[in-house]
Amino acid sequence: MSTPQYDLVVFGATSFVGQILVKYLVDHFNEHPEDKVPWAMAGRSETKLEQVRSETGATDTPLLIADADNEAALQAMCKKTKVVISTVGPYALYGTTLVKACVENGTDYCDLTGETQWIKRMVDRFEAKAKQTGARIVHCCGFDSIPSDLGVAFLQKTAQEKFGAPCTDVKMRVKAAKGGASGGTIASIINVTKEAIANPALRKELANPYSICPPDHTFTARQRNVKSAVFDKDFQCWSAPFVMAAINTRVVHRSNALSGNAYGVDFRYDEAMLTGREFKGRMTAITMVAGLGAFMVGAVIKPTRWLMESYMLPKPGEGPSPEAQQKGYYDLRFVGLTADGKELRTKVTGDRDPGYGSTSKMLGQAGLSLALDISKEEKAGGFWTTATIFDERMFKRLTAHAGLGFEVVE
Ligand SMILES: NC(=O)c1ccc[n+]([C@@H]2O[C@H](COP(=O)([O-])OP(=O)(O)OC[C@H]3O[C@@H](n4cnc5c(N)ncnc54)[C@H](OP(=O)(O)O)[C@@H]3O)[C@@H](O)[C@H]2O)c1
Repeated sequence: MSTPQYDLVVFGATSFVGQILVKYLVDHFNEHPEDKVPWAMAGRSETKLEQVRSETGATDTPLLIADADNEAALQAMCKKTKVVISTVGPYALYGTTLVKACVENGTDYCDLTGETQWIKRMVDRFEAKAKQTGARIVHCCGFDSIPSDLGVAFLQKTAQEKFGAPCTDVKMRVKAAKGGASGGTIASIINVTKEAIANPALRKELANPYSICPPDHTFTARQRNVKSAVFDKDFQCWSAPFVMAAINTRVVHRSNALSGNAYGVDFRYDEAMLTGREFKGRMTAITMVAGLGAFMVGAVIKPTRWLMESYMLPKPGEGPSPEAQQKGYYDLRFVGLTADGKELRTKVTGDRDPGYGSTSKMLGQAGLSLALDISKEEKAGGFWTTATIFDERMFKRLTAHAGLGFEVVE
């Protein structure tokens, strides 16, 4: 096979998050020439791509034109590169042909999907072929689910060093976070809601914490799931449901399965948001539960969904302002217990807003780590999670270049 022309192609360089990613890569390559790889920007509109190229200073970066439905164009694109980063979503609507093309050409791939139903379809359809061709497919390389997946991996590594055993019961609590949603993310949530309304089997699948684990997994532990305002004794704080738990918990369980049950066969993991102490914390939790419920009911009912999509929510291409991205941050707390009751507390922090400023940096570093760090000899083809394909080199990238912190809390 001839050597591909590029190491990296950003497909969807015109998306809200794609534009932030392109600017990040341009700055990163200027500041860290050791990471500068041959790369290209791709999308369906040459005019839009040219505009993004000139606005981000990606001056000489080649442009590749491909529609998400044009298999021949995607095949040609995949043959030209070692790694594709895709931000073209909702992935359940626009992502399948690209994953197929990557798998058939042995091209590595990473994305920002949080759509478990689509991930399951991709694994079921393409994993055997990816193992044959050597394509490494890594979904969920943004705020969902890198901080959760690598956060648990960090906690487990520390537990092994400190106690010689993993924590078999882990909670992640969002202590603080500031950011906003984009049109693409809203479109993905609305799309999965529409699919679930039409398909009872899918509703069952979405409720299964082990839905994306390999079929031969042996997990049966009943998982906790914060669904209402609950007082959390471990954090002495009120808590409310965390919307990303639905994807993050599934990814963490898949990581456990792919690593030979390294966290234990009875491993339990859940996520929620801390809302504060005493009466105010309780009221905030109750208000959040009510808000989330109203959003879900609104998304399920056709006329209110239309109203929300048309007038209330950000449209595709829209999202938080550069100032809001800059002022954003997150602080995630983990508490783990070993089977014999030893406790470990850790945290993961990030600068910038979780969904865009921070996500674009994590996604860029995931693409670079696939292209530069992880050889095909080290990790073979297949559908990986971030915790199972990446290693210390990725932790280094994230802490040195993406504003993340992984720390033990004494
Ligand atoms: N995991 C996370 O933490 C996280 C965070 C942020 C976003 N996301 C996900 O990332 C995705 C992008 O979000 P966003 O807000 O940036 O989306 P967006 O602004 O709506 O952009 C969508 C992108 O898809 C492209 N596209 C649509 N149809 C296409 C087609 N047929 N062929 C080729 N390209 C096509 C658009 O191209 P044009 O510009 O030509 O229209 C655009 O580049 C969403 O799925 C979102 O859920 C995940």
